[in-house]
Amino acid sequence: MSANKESWGSRVGLILAMAGNAVGLGNFLRFPVQAVQNGGGAFIIPYLVCFLVMGIPLLWIEWSMGRFGGRFGNHSTPYIVDTMGKHRLWKYIGVFGIWTNIAVAAYYCYLESWTLSYVFHSILGTFNGLDQEGVASFFDTYVSIGDSTLGIPYEAVVFYLLCLLLNTWILSKGLSGGVERVAKIGMPLLIVFGMFLAYKGFTIKAGEAGASFDSAVGLNFLWTPDYTQLWSPTVWLAAAGQIFFTLSVGMGTIHCYASYVRSKDDIALNAMSAGWMNEFVEVVLGASILIPISIGYLGIDRVTELVQQGGLGLAFKTLPFLFTQWGEVLGAIAGVMWFGLLFFAGITSSLAMGTPWIGFLQDEFNWRRKPAAWSFGLIVLILGMPTVLFFHYGVFDEYDYWAGTVSLVVFALVETILFAWVFGMDRGWREINSGADIKVPDIYKYIIKFVTPVLLLWVFIGSLVTPKGGDWGKALSGDWVLDDSSIINKIKNSSLKRQLAEATDPAVIEQLQET
Ligand code: PHE
Ligand code: NA
Repeated sequence: MSANKESWGSRVGLILAMAGNAVGLGNFLRFPVQAVQNGGGAFIIPYLVCFLVMGIPLLWIEWSMGRFGGRFGNHSTPYIVDTMGKHRLWKYIGVFGIWTNIAVAAYYCYLESWTLSYVFHSILGTFNGLDQEGVASFFDTYVSIGDSTLGIPYEAVVFYLLCLLLNTWILSKGLSGGVERVAKIGMPLLIVFGMFLAYKGFTIKAGEAGASFDSAVGLNFLWTPDYTQLWSPTVWLAAAGQIFFTLSVGMGTIHCYASYVRSKDDIALNAMSAGWMNEFVEVVLGASILIPISIGYLGIDRVTELVQQGGLGLAFKTLPFLFTQWGEVLGAIAGVMWFGLLFFAGITSSLAMGTPWIGFLQDEFNWRRKPAAWSFGLIVLILGMPTVLFFHYGVFDEYDYWAGTVSLVVFALVETILFAWVFGMDRGWREINSGADIKVPDIYKYIIKFVTPVLLLWVFIGSLVTPKGGDWGKALSGDWVLDDSSIINKIKNSSLKRQLAEATDPAVIEQLQET
């Protein structure tokens, strides 16, 4: 219980803050890449099904958990779940809801700081006159901290600090005075920038401004359904993972934001507004920029090849070069819009990652907002340093996998069980519907109770022990080999990698490489 009496300023502000939480770098960088990696048109059907039977239920669950906990003066996941399940264990499980945010923030803020720097470089015209190689090597130099040829020594570090300071400062201004205000400015601008770039993505013509293909080539690639892949569990797992990441469920940010909603206010409709806004930005805007523009210039094969190397390359090495093909002025505008929209998407999400920790310190230790915000900045700085300094060694992906993927699924499963089976579905259903401005379809009562947990369990087990190539048929008939993408193999491989990095004796290294 605390003296923390903060709340949202207005309904619009709440929805925009929640939408800002959800809409993030995942919408513009992760979604298109996942779609391409999983066969373009094959991805979208599982993706939409996962949204309907896991995403939407989890939104309602988390919003109502948050509002419920907030009624008792709790604004962080451990104490919110503690008010719902009476066993002491729940509180400790709830620590996930603080920890995951801090761990994700540690790599997310670094990526966010690149976008800030690239806005400036677009304004300065840094990319003008460079060829594709030049733009790509600009990025490589940027992330290899030591050798700075960009004029600002340690530029990546400088922008990282700047970005953390900005986050901390906004967080210290409070919910309605900081977070909500940024969302009210950032979200509309993001939509305007996104619409402009999506328009460009839609109107690319072969032979104009250096493009080789019509925009239809890229769009067809993404949107022509491919039913052959429909039953591949790997595609389903990727789709579920993307839904969690993009909606920010299984993290604790929604609990925290919703705990500041007044107890008589609607959550059923608000949750849908924010959730569908995220889907619009992801499926309509997110799918119409990075991939169609890149394919317009490079063709499907080259883009698929680049995407296999990760989505960040396309966004930071390829697009800034393609924009220069549109002429100096339009190129600069497009660059500012692209990196500007990424920055707004990023910051409204990283602010959300900070609030659970701040709410926790305020509630339990009576900290004031300002020192609590600074402590968040400091923790992220310390935890984030490895991603900054060792970016090339895959530290970034390691963080994303454990904090940004695995723990979301685990926590979502646990909280669904808590909500539907421990707290009880009848009480849960009353919570969702109390103060509701829409009638929630009754079928969701059964979906939340049965379908969501079973699917979550399937996703979890499926990613724990994925058989080689995702071929369950073969695996179940006795030919059982774990795929490298299974969690169990990841645990094995990442500790192997660590030992390899530490080993100096050539005989030991050779032995490790063989295993
Ligand atoms: N949903 C955000 C995105 O799509 C990421 C995020 C995860 C934000 C967790 C907050 C909490 O980028
Ligand atoms: Na998102």
